[in-house]
Amino acid sequence: MAPIQKTIVSPVSRAATRSQFRRKTLPMTVPRIFLTHPYIRLASTMVPKLKDPSLFKQHVCYVNGEWIKARSGKTFEVNDPATGELIGTCPDFDAQDTENAIAAADAAFEPFRKTTGRSRSKLLRKWYDLMVENADDLATLITWENGKPMADAKGEVTYAANFFEWFSEEAPRIYGDTIPSSTPGNRVWTIKEPVGVCGLITPWNFPAAMITRKIGPALAVGCTVVCKSPGETPYTSLAIAELAHRAGVPAGVVNVITALDNTPEVGKVLTTNPTVRKVSFTGSTPVGKLLMRQCSSTLKKLSLELGGNAPFIVFDDADVDAAVAGAIISKFRSSGQTCVCANRIFVQRGVYDEFAAKFAAKVRDFTVGNGFDTSVTHGPLIHHRAIDKVDQHVRDAESKGATILVGGQKMPDLGPNFFQPTVIGNMTTDMAMASEETFGPVAGLFPFDTEGEVVQIANATSVGLAGYFFSRDLARVYRVAEHLEVGMVGVNTGLISDPASPFGGVKESGFGREGSLYGIGEYQVTKMVTYGGMGLPLQK
Ligand code: SIN
Repeated sequence: MAPIQKTIVSPVSRAATRSQFRRKTLPMTVPRIFLTHPYIRLASTMVPKLKDPSLFKQHVCYVNGEWIKARSGKTFEVNDPATGELIGTCPDFDAQDTENAIAAADAAFEPFRKTTGRSRSKLLRKWYDLMVENADDLATLITWENGKPMADAKGEVTYAANFFEWFSEEAPRIYGDTIPSSTPGNRVWTIKEPVGVCGLITPWNFPAAMITRKIGPALAVGCTVVCKSPGETPYTSLAIAELAHRAGVPAGVVNVITALDNTPEVGKVLTTNPTVRKVSFTGSTPVGKLLMRQCSSTLKKLSLELGGNAPFIVFDDADVDAAVAGAIISKFRSSGQTCVCANRIFVQRGVYDEFAAKFAAKVRDFTVGNGFDTSVTHGPLIHHRAIDKVDQHVRDAESKGATILVGGQKMPDLGPNFFQPTVIGNMTTDMAMASEETFGPVAGLFPFDTEGEVVQIANATSVGLAGYFFSRDLARVYRVAEHLEVGMVGVNTGLISDPASPFGGVKESGFGREGSLYGIGEYQVTKMVTYGGMGLPLQK
């Protein structure tokens, strides 16, 4: 790579940085989230008002069609990332609780696999309808436990429900093949069968969409599931389980369990119990590798959607305004906490200054605060560990000569989990952000000179989930799309997620596809039947 020249875009002083954001600090006497969202008082704690309060499931998990506690009675606390206040408690399921949920899913499997695709389609459709009807409450739960602004939470509910709609339309269309045999008189055909009981392990960054993306195809083909929801955001998945119950999903077909301290033992059971035939996990690469090792003991079918380090490339021939808009959505969606967020923004030198100035101006316009405040565009990060990582990346870049254009600081006046949306210019490949996923609201701009150089740097990473680029040159579009070592490419867009599109990565971003026709295959096994008794001539 050619040495990177520093491109001049005026840096901001730290003092200026501190005051440049609209921030929503609220009076200390009133809990911050109460000002713009209706609240009711429940027991000793204040909770956001749900239209249907029975969707807020405390102390219980959904197993075999019933709401049950952990056998030990042990619970863990869930806190609002914006305020730090207690939301409630959930059961800390242990190994035996998990075995029981697997047994329920196993008992439900035989009758469920025999149902028709059409009836499973109707179930998923009903569940979809209930999610749409209860969208406001689901969004409230998402904002409460995850922190993302209500508008984003509502967008997530639509995205999540759409997986049920999409897979409800696939359920009646599960086809096998007929195959010409090499042996005269033989006939070969295939049957697509449900793989069996599935263990699904989902992350906190999309409390609704990651669970529906896995359950939708599993149910469409006739599998039953045990879903371990994330310790940070269990309530959305429990509300979705309640809607499954109302939709008439048979007992044991969908089981949703929670754990925090016991997460490793729950994960161990889901990945080693021989009854579980498939595991699907979305999360970090190190945990994915651990689960894969554990799954090897019983050779389970496995889908892993793991970490990314997405390149976002802006070529000189791009529509710069469109590229800025694409980078904003790709980088700052969910405050940078998605696996497909742009992690390294490469800008060709001819448009670097223009892009950096326009991009920084947009980020300066963000409003940071509690997601229940409708004027807030960006909420808190999920917890303090996330803040520490983001801060380390910024300090590392700064110490190695990068220029902070916007932000760069924690926002303690809002709470311990807030960080200023940040833009850093003149990044170089020796900085931590070049090789590690930031998973936060920090955009690093790397100037570059040539197409060959940038594709080489973009691919110089062990992971390959998403990649994006902006160009108006059609030949370049084909060339670069084909050369990027990723599972998904966004060309002239920063948003690629869609239930109809195959989502997944290459290299250490994992394998398997979610959503789309390919997502169905992840929950099936292909059984081949050879019929050898035909004889050739017609009987006289
Ligand atoms: C993820 O972050 O894992 C999923 C993001 C998406 O579906 O867009």
